[in-house]
Amino acid sequence: MKTSDSILVTGGAGFIGSHFVLDWLANPSAPPLVNVDKLTYAGNLDNLSSVLPDPRHVWVHADMGDRARMREVLAQHRPCAIVNFAAESHADRSIHGPQAFIDTNIGATFALLEEARAYHAALQGDSQAGFRWLQVSTDEVYGTLQPGDTPFTETHRFVPNSPYAASKAAADHLVRAWHHTYGLPVVTTHCSNNYGPYQFPEKLIPLVIANALDGKPLPIYGDGQQVRDWLYVADHCDAIRTVLAKGQLGAHYNVGGWNEMANLHIVQTVCELLDRAQPRADGQPYASQITHVADRPGHDQRYAIDATRMATELGWRPKETFATGIEKTVQWYLQHPQWVARVRSGAYRDWMQTQYGSGA
Ligand code: NAD
Ligand code: TYD
Repeated sequence: MKTSDSILVTGGAGFIGSHFVLDWLANPSAPPLVNVDKLTYAGNLDNLSSVLPDPRHVWVHADMGDRARMREVLAQHRPCAIVNFAAESHADRSIHGPQAFIDTNIGATFALLEEARAYHAALQGDSQAGFRWLQVSTDEVYGTLQPGDTPFTETHRFVPNSPYAASKAAADHLVRAWHHTYGLPVVTTHCSNNYGPYQFPEKLIPLVIANALDGKPLPIYGDGQQVRDWLYVADHCDAIRTVLAKGQLGAHYNVGGWNEMANLHIVQTVCELLDRAQPRADGQPYASQITHVADRPGHDQRYAIDATRMATELGWRPKETFATGIEKTVQWYLQHPQWVARVRSGAYRDWMQTQYGSGA
């Protein structure tokens, strides 16, 4: 059996996945993309409304852990690559309810790896050699750093601290073993915190923008001095395309923005941008809404990514600085209040009812 030139993406209705799909299809010569998404609370077809009519966008509403369904999808579309974005992705939710993280990030990834292994084994010649599984992982698998520690390199050992990070680390180990034992051609990326349009307003930056505009408190966990590296989402998608095209089999690539910042500084920056773009009616700064709340249990103090390998081996560097990326992001949220309103009211899920009835 030979592959087609299409690629299969899981989780393409989520935040990063939908950017990847939109960017991919924005290239008029790009091959078709099969988008498999279960549409959990984090999946939002509003993000994809512009490409739903595009015949190169093959929309498949399915759970990647449904082996029979995925076997059919692979046989029907014969993709030359799988980019695995699908996951439960929110650390706070993993603390309140880890089961879904184990089921999806480990269980469903295992199921799809098994189907990909059988599919890959049946491929021939160049199709078999050229097939790729790209595992979209996170810097959180490396655990936490102290101030002054050198940033994570690809050889840093896995020391995950949250149920989310542990489930992603487990998935990465499975992907590694499927390469080592069965010869599945895999590459893995570990990216830092993404931000940009279409991010679900449970994550720090969109939550702060939405709450600020609603006149609600801006919750800062603990002292707000926890540090993350922040990367604009389009740069992450560009890095994934680069690794897909040029990554070395079995290799891990750290993807980051060379932009470490404390949470409190991030929130103050967002507030200042909002003060300029849409000042509060009472003339007070949005920063006056900042409220310190109880810290996250087991909160990692610092993540920092050394993305040297991406630059020296694959020639990738982020295009956005934090200043340009955060400005674009704040502008997008200001220009799309209805997107946020539909997410917050749950209306973004209405199409499920329309499309699938009460079985949705
Ligand atoms: P997200 O939560 O916004 O989207 C996840 C998507 O996966 C949703 O559309 C959901 O419906 C879908 N999904 C969940 N379970 C599924 C299943 N069983 N089958 C098919 N689809 C399923 O996540 P995101 O922020 O876009 O993150 C995407 C990937 O990138 C994740 O693997 C995450 O671990 C990784 N990552 C995220 C960040 C970040 O800052 N957001 C940083 C580094 C890595
Ligand atoms: P988040 O966006 O949830 O990403 P992650 O936990 O994957 O890094 O959180 C980013 C940082 O912001 C993290 O240190 C937790 C902190 N945070 C707050 O202080 N307040 C909030 O309301 C949220 C959602 C996060």
